[in-house]
Amino acid sequence: MNIRLFAPFLGEEELNEIRDSFNKSWVGLGEKVSAFERAFENYIGCSKSIAVNSATAALHLSLSVYGFKPGRKVLVPDITFASTAFAPLYNNLEPVFVDVYEDDITMSVEDLENKYSPDCVAVMPVHYGGQPAHMDRITEFAKSKNLKVIEDCAHTIGASYKGNKLGLWGDIGCFSFEEKKAMTTGDGGMICSNDAELISKLSSMRWLGIDKESWKKSKPDEDNEYKHWYYDIDYLGFKYNMNDLSASIGLVQLKKLDEMNSIRSGLIARYMEGIGSLKKIRPILPFEPVKYSYWLFGVRCEKRDELIKFLKQNGIATGVHYVPLNMVNYFRQWPSKCSTAEAVWKEFVTLPLHVQLTAEELDYIIDKLKEFENKFL
Ligand SMILES: Cc1ncc(COP(=O)(O)O)c(C=O)c1O
Repeated sequence: MNIRLFAPFLGEEELNEIRDSFNKSWVGLGEKVSAFERAFENYIGCSKSIAVNSATAALHLSLSVYGFKPGRKVLVPDITFASTAFAPLYNNLEPVFVDVYEDDITMSVEDLENKYSPDCVAVMPVHYGGQPAHMDRITEFAKSKNLKVIEDCAHTIGASYKGNKLGLWGDIGCFSFEEKKAMTTGDGGMICSNDAELISKLSSMRWLGIDKESWKKSKPDEDNEYKHWYYDIDYLGFKYNMNDLSASIGLVQLKKLDEMNSIRSGLIARYMEGIGSLKKIRPILPFEPVKYSYWLFGVRCEKRDELIKFLKQNGIATGVHYVPLNMVNYFRQWPSKCSTAEAVWKEFVTLPLHVQLTAEELDYIIDKLKEFENKFL
C-alpha cells in the first residue's frame, strides 16, 4: 500500500480547456479568467469575485485594500497556515494570535474578546479543515468594535453556515485553489465580496494597480478610439493576477466541485463509522459531512508520533495541521498565550482524504487505526 494524503482530481476535460487556451494563443490574464470569476460569483452567490494566483495573495490584498495605518493589529486564529498571519505582516500590521475551541478548532470568540485592543483593525477567521468558525458571533463582535472581517476560506468551498454561504459572512472572503485544496487551478485564489467599490479597487490592485478601464474615461475627443493603450495607476499594485491556463482548469474543476465535495463527505462518513468504536483515537473535529464541506480528515491520539510512524510503516501518508503559530519560530516575535491550541495540536494526525481514495484503501486505514489502538494504546 502507498496511500497519498491529498491528491488533485484532474482529467481530460481540464486538458481540453487548456488546449482551447493554446489554440487561442492566449494564456495570460484574459477571457478565461473573467469567465471563471463570473462562474465563481454564480456558485458562491456574491456580487463580484476577483481571481488571483494564490489565497496568500488574496489575503494580502484583502487587508491592503483598506490602507490601515502601520502598526495596527489583526486578530488571527492560532491554528492555521502561516499565510493567514503573513497577510497582516505584508501590510506592516501585527498579528495577534487568538486561541481556538477545544472541540472544533476554530477561533474562540471568548479569546477574541479577550485579545482585542483598540489598536485592532480586522479579524481573519479560518474555517479549519472545513469546520465553520462561529461567524454569527464573530461578525457581531467585529461590528461592535468596527473591525473588518476577512474570512479565510482556504479549507472549504460551497458550504453554508446558519443559512449564509461561507465567504460571504465577512467583508471579504478568500478561497484557495492550491493543488491539495477542495478544487484546484494548480495554484490560485479568489477574492469574493458584495462591496462593489472594494472589488473594483482589488481588481486593479491584483494587476499592478492598472486601471484598464481608464482609457474609456479619457476626454472624449476625436482620438479617443485610439486611446486603447492608455491606462492610469491609482493604487500600489501587485502582480497577483490569475492567468488563463489556471482559469481553464478552474472552470472545469468548479463544475465538478459539488461532486468532489460529496465524495469527500461520503469518505468522512465512512471514516466516522469505522473509528466510532475506538476509545483512544478520536476525530479531530465534530465532523458533520452532510452539512459542511470538509477538506481535511484527521484524528487525535495521545501517542501521535508513534501513530504517525506506524501508519508510515504501513504505507499510509499522514500530516499535522498545524503547529500553533505562536509556537513557530518566526511568529514568536508576537507572543500571545493560546493554551488550548498549545495543548490540542500535540494529538493531531491528518489522514488521507481525496476524491481518488478508494473504499478499500479507506477500510485498510481504519483497520490499521484499530490495530494500533489494540496493540499500543
Ligand atoms: C488556512 C489557509 N489559509 C491560506 C492558505 C494559503 O493558500 P495558497 O496556497 O492558495 O496561498 C492556506 C494554504 O494551505 C491555508 O491552509
